[in-house]
Amino acid sequence: DPEETLRPRPPVVTIMGHVDHGKTSLLDALRGTDVVKGEAGGITQHIGAYQITTKAKDKITFLDTPGHAAFSEMRARGANVTDIVILVVAADDGIMPQTIEAINHTKAAGVPMIVAINKCDKPEANPQKVRERLLEHDIMVEAMSGEVQDVELSAKTGAGIDKLLEAIALQAELLELKARPDRDAEATVIEAQLDKGRGPVATVLVTRGTLKRGDNFVVGTQSGRVRALVDHKGQQLKEAGPSMPVEVLGLSGVPSAGDSFTVVENEQRAREVAEYRQEM
Ligand code: GTP
Ligand code: NA
Ligand code: MG
Repeated sequence: DPEETLRPRPPVVTIMGHVDHGKTSLLDALRGTDVVKGEAGGITQHIGAYQITTKAKDKITFLDTPGHAAFSEMRARGANVTDIVILVVAADDGIMPQTIEAINHTKAAGVPMIVAINKCDKPEANPQKVRERLLEHDIMVEAMSGEVQDVELSAKTGAGIDKLLEAIALQAELLELKARPDRDAEATVIEAQLDKGRGPVATVLVTRGTLKRGDNFVVGTQSGRVRALVDHKGQQLKEAGPSMPVEVLGLSGVPSAGDSFTVVENEQRAREVAEYRQEM
């Protein structure tokens, strides 16, 4: 994109780590609400997507991922749509198989990492051991004279959450993230499902441009016209700019997570492209 039309955009931050290390709890602490209690069986089923505004007036987009072993693909996808990975490691449990897997996805995607050493409120917490074990995976944190920011925290008590937000702001500044808002939108599907009342619904992350109500689009082998845009608080939006996660209504069918979402000039073009893709 031409330099003159680029504008700063919020960082997209993906939270990864082993099962039950506190990813969703951390996200709750970060946005000051509690969704953990609403999850079936306490295991995150989908990537959640939220944008918050911090006290410093920075906007940050957060994506949650499940830590369960079965969700390796979601972690890989999470690493690929993100600017910064927060690796959550429970200080009582330490480095576990999905911690290592998340490290590998992050390295493969070439994305900077911040280590969040969680559950430091627990008497058995051993943050120093976490730092030492990370060395075995070539992660040298600042507390060990390395370059990877690490923050001790407790998603339960809220201790260290401010420090984590500062670490994100610092990392985001280094990345100088920019995008063009003044063009047709491109986005990536984070999750999608058939909603009983609303029909096919996709949560997309806008990567370029601005998505608007009434836009015609192609997504995977589906097409549609944006009937409504809804943020994670359930509020209807007229438009969604770069780094904004938003629910899109008005799809012809349910796309797949990871599908690219592209705005096209008209309804006929949208249908043609979708039909062409269906035949492939
Ligand atoms: P999955 O999505 O299933 O991988 O789990 P998760 O990483 O999102 O963990 P979740 O937030 O669901 O937390 C798992 C358990 O750890 C819950 O019982 C939380 O209450 C608890 N927990 C999370 N953070 C903390 C913390 O900082 N301190 C303490 N003591 N418990 C915590
Ligand atoms: Na859990
Ligand atoms: Mg979770």
